[in-house]
Amino acid sequence: MDTFDFQWSEWKKHSSISPSHFQSLVTDFLSRMNLCSDFFSNKTILDAGCGIGRYTLASAMLGAHVVAIDLVNSGIHQTRQFTKKLPNVDCVQGDLLHSPFKFESFDFVFSVGVLHHSPNPQAAFERIARLVRRDGLLYIWVYRKRSPLLETMNVFLRTFTARLPLRFLYALSFLLIPFASVIVGYKLGVHGTFDWCAPKYQHHFTEQEVLNWYEKMGFKEVKLVIYNKFKKCGFGVIGHKSP
Ligand SMILES: C[S@@+](CC[C@H](N)C(=O)[O-])C[C@H]1O[C@@H](n2cnc3c(N)ncnc32)[C@H](O)[C@@H]1O
Repeated sequence: MDTFDFQWSEWKKHSSISPSHFQSLVTDFLSRMNLCSDFFSNKTILDAGCGIGRYTLASAMLGAHVVAIDLVNSGIHQTRQFTKKLPNVDCVQGDLLHSPFKFESFDFVFSVGVLHHSPNPQAAFERIARLVRRDGLLYIWVYRKRSPLLETMNVFLRTFTARLPLRFLYALSFLLIPFASVIVGYKLGVHGTFDWCAPKYQHHFTEQEVLNWYEKMGFKEVKLVIYNKFKKCGFGVIGHKSP
């Protein structure tokens, strides 16, 4: 079973997003991308690697037509549940690397916490960059390369954890919280610890590496977007595709 399929099934058992959290979800989404709410109305948007669909829901509530894609069934199933009352959402289970979408068909593509789990993150980036229409926007958020000591600690941790049976690792995550939290630079819970320790692939990047990806694909006005809550472990980048 894919680690994320297991993760989202467990998430569903213990958590939810209630209507009272919708406004804070939208606020979190807008500050994460550094965009204003007016931007979304009537835009066609792709949530590339939607997970349980928290940001699919936020962007649909802001008036966009949103297509959400994820590799794993439990994530797409949960995204459908969250957005079932919204007519402006389409959910697709599939692989970003072989997605069925036409090139240059989205006004805005965003991908939060996904590309670093690809076996070839730059190829995955180039694939989603081609889906953005001319003058459209692309936002990604990826893990940051940390100090040599933290990177070494992480290799040590994950060499062991990414091979464990998933149910065993989920239980063990309670004990791993302090160690993983030091590496990530953020106080994790059980779910976050599992999310860090389980995936087979986990790549870390410098800001310059990612800025170079954007430049290579012909994006202009490329900016770093630092989201304070997770600034030690990752960073966002947004750019305009040349008209
Ligand atoms: C850490 S989660 C992030 C989910 C969501 N973007 C969020 O911020 O809540 C990473 C997600 O990317 C999905 N994913 C990884 N590689 C993918 C691929 N090649 N195609 C589609 N989805 C992928 C995983 O299944 C997982 O649900």
